[in-house]
Amino acid sequence: MDRSDTPAAKAGTVAVGELAVKRMGFGAMRLCGGYALGAPSDRPAAHRVLRRALELGVDFIDTADSYGPGIDEELIAEALHPYPAGLVIATKGGYLRGSRGGWTPDARPERLRQALEGSLSRLRVERIDLYQLHTPDARVPFAESVGALANAQREGKIRHIGLSNVSVRQLEEARAIAPVVSVQNEYNLEDRGSEDVLRACERLGIAFIPWRPLGAGASLRPARTARVAARLQATPAQVALAWLLARSPAMLPIPGTSSGAHLEENVKAAALRLSRADLDLLE
Ligand SMILES: NC(=O)c1ccc[n+]([C@@H]2O[C@H](COP(=O)([O-])OP(=O)(O)OC[C@H]3O[C@@H](n4cnc5c(N)ncnc54)[C@H](OP(=O)(O)O)[C@@H]3O)[C@@H](O)[C@H]2O)c1
Repeated sequence: MDRSDTPAAKAGTVAVGELAVKRMGFGAMRLCGGYALGAPSDRPAAHRVLRRALELGVDFIDTADSYGPGIDEELIAEALHPYPAGLVIATKGGYLRGSRGGWTPDARPERLRQALEGSLSRLRVERIDLYQLHTPDARVPFAESVGALANAQREGKIRHIGLSNVSVRQLEEARAIAPVVSVQNEYNLEDRGSEDVLRACERLGIAFIPWRPLGAGASLRPARTARVAARLQATPAQVALAWLLARSPAMLPIPGTSSGAHLEENVKAAALRLSRADLDLLE
């Protein structure tokens, strides 16, 4: 997808393996029903949000088999298949969902294999560009979970391996088993607990994908965010995303929304530049 003149392109690109994607992705989880369970109340509206994201130049979409479960990947395929060249769909496996929305880690190799096969079928592809281990599972040796993804990569079912919700030590352990091109951890203005993982990704030249980049709304509320937003005639969401982009060249935010208006607003943050004074205020 040559989309160099689109709003998302203003964020520049980041490498996901040999693939270059715009540093303004889209997190698709919010397209499902509440708690990322079940179908959206307005399925065509969810399709429109996905198609509009691509028109705005977004070429990286994050999902997981556990969103829906399954429904999020189906929505993506319904809206976007056959996929345009250059679109990277990143999915994940490693969580089971309870009927009330709970998240139970299950990263046993046999379960990951089953999850991967489900994702391949729902996304209607023969290979997943970026397959992320959604979470380590305390009941399973981490090396076994990563080893399952390495096997699937050797079989050609996964192009690149990513990790999610890991420590620097786990990142290093995984890298001894297979190449890792990205880490997806929670990170936003209000929660910087994964600063060390971000810096490790930077050092390694791999992508850092902050989940909950808007703090699920919490990053929009502090007065300092509102002050910077007012100064720049921007919105708090745009400031929160521009702050992430300024924080590191490895950063690949995936803001989530089911709203077309919020999507437009969020992608426009790619063009917003924060001054030293703005960054100091947000520090
Ligand atoms: N790896 C993991 O364990 C993990 C965990 C959680 C999420 N994720 C991924 O990360 C993505 C993003 O995380 P997230 O969706 O939880 O949190 P988020 O992107 O920080 O925030 C999304 C929330 O903010 C609202 N919002 C979005 N844009 C807004 C705007 N411009 N102004 C005001 N409110 C706005 C959305 O509501 P509206 O729909 O009303 O816009 C939604 O409630 C997910 O889609 C998923 O792909 C991964």
